[in-house]
Amino acid sequence: MNILLLGSGGREHALAWKIAQSPKLTKLFIAPGNPGMEAHGQCVNLSLSDFPAIAAFVKEENVELVVVGLEVPLVEGIVDYFKQNEALQHVGIIGPSKQGAQLEGSKNFAKAFMMRHGIPTAKYQTFDGTTLKEGLEFLETMRPPYVLKADGLCAGKGVLIVPTLKEARKEFQDMLGGMFGNASAHVVLEEFLDGTECSVFVLTDGQHYKILPEAKDYKRIGEYDCGLNTGGMGSVSPVPFATAEWMQKVEDRIIRPTILGLAEEGIDYKGFIFFGLINVKGEPMVIEYNCRMGDPETETVMPRLQSDLVELFEGVVNGKLDQYNVVIDPRAAVNVMLVSGGYPQDYKKGYPISGLEQVKDSIVFHSGTAWKDGQLVTAGGRVISVTSYGKDKAEALAKSMENAQHISYADRYYRRDIGKDL
Ligand code: AMP
Ligand code: GLY
Repeated sequence: MNILLLGSGGREHALAWKIAQSPKLTKLFIAPGNPGMEAHGQCVNLSLSDFPAIAAFVKEENVELVVVGLEVPLVEGIVDYFKQNEALQHVGIIGPSKQGAQLEGSKNFAKAFMMRHGIPTAKYQTFDGTTLKEGLEFLETMRPPYVLKADGLCAGKGVLIVPTLKEARKEFQDMLGGMFGNASAHVVLEEFLDGTECSVFVLTDGQHYKILPEAKDYKRIGEYDCGLNTGGMGSVSPVPFATAEWMQKVEDRIIRPTILGLAEEGIDYKGFIFFGLINVKGEPMVIEYNCRMGDPETETVMPRLQSDLVELFEGVVNGKLDQYNVVIDPRAAVNVMLVSGGYPQDYKKGYPISGLEQVKDSIVFHSGTAWKDGQLVTAGGRVISVTSYGKDKAEALAKSMENAQHISYADRYYRRDIGKDL
């Protein structure tokens, strides 16, 4: 089977690495891809918002399956575009319809969906420019810290958590005033939940689902979770508090009601659902949904998935996912992300990267790298990451640390405490 994977980050590199191991694969194309993914397939230069160009490529190269790695094309309706196009009816596509992608594309949609289906989440209300006064009054009734969320997609920057009412009032008004453009035309104000986060992933054909390994990501730039939020500085899988008992609660209270709710509402959803959960005194609650895998969680989830991912995708497309098995590697995996100095604020790009050949017994995933005159260089805030297995997370972390040291470029930075808090 010829497969086209859309995306260019570490998440897509991990997906490409996994897809490339399938005996069912004939040829993998990745658009636009990155230098690391060239080991697994052919990178092609397609714009991810140009659906007609993607469709033309799919026809020309006899692609039978398209895997959408990132949320933007999904929220923009790439799945609907494929389904409406007669000539693409035979092409399977992994990802929800535009309506299904609203679980991530609109915080208000996601919250209202959870309310309709009794899924545990923080109490909230949504406001817009016409209800600013009511919003300010609602803030008065809340307890600090205050959680303010732009309704729409903001590349992971749309959530503010502030300690005082004064700041909350100001940020609320600034958000409605266009801080995130149209994405903050509606703002969700919600109760702060105190607990430890855990990312749970399922693959669904719209009726059945399979639970993939869970993971925890580390968002803050500094060790022991201090400093600014980033796209993710590393991940660990499994998560010790996600015991069989806790996961049963997640399945009963969150996963099953979500899948049933989507089906009941006639929302077409065939793809990944990422449940961003928080463990509040032993009880799982939903912080957010995403309509794609997590980054850098995928960099530990895919290495722990022993089943053939392409077979599971076939199950998604043919609606018979219940007939497939998910086998999980019992070992722990720890991913350590190497970033550019200065990230998540200003940083320089274009530094030569060396030492990759010295990495032993770990998997390297590229996030922000590029070729410049035949030399691999840094090309993003998150540059490259290392995933290792271990009998436990300490052993996996030690191996990732050892190998991270071998990869060098100017101003390199990484956290040394991934998984240590658990
Ligand atoms: P989101 O984009 O919804 O994932 O939010 C970004 C981050 O903000 C989450 O990963 C949490 O760390 C934090 N967060 C969001 N909502 C809440 C909440 N209600 N209580 C506590 N932390 C939250
Ligand atoms: N690691 C969090 C995310 O991918 O949104």
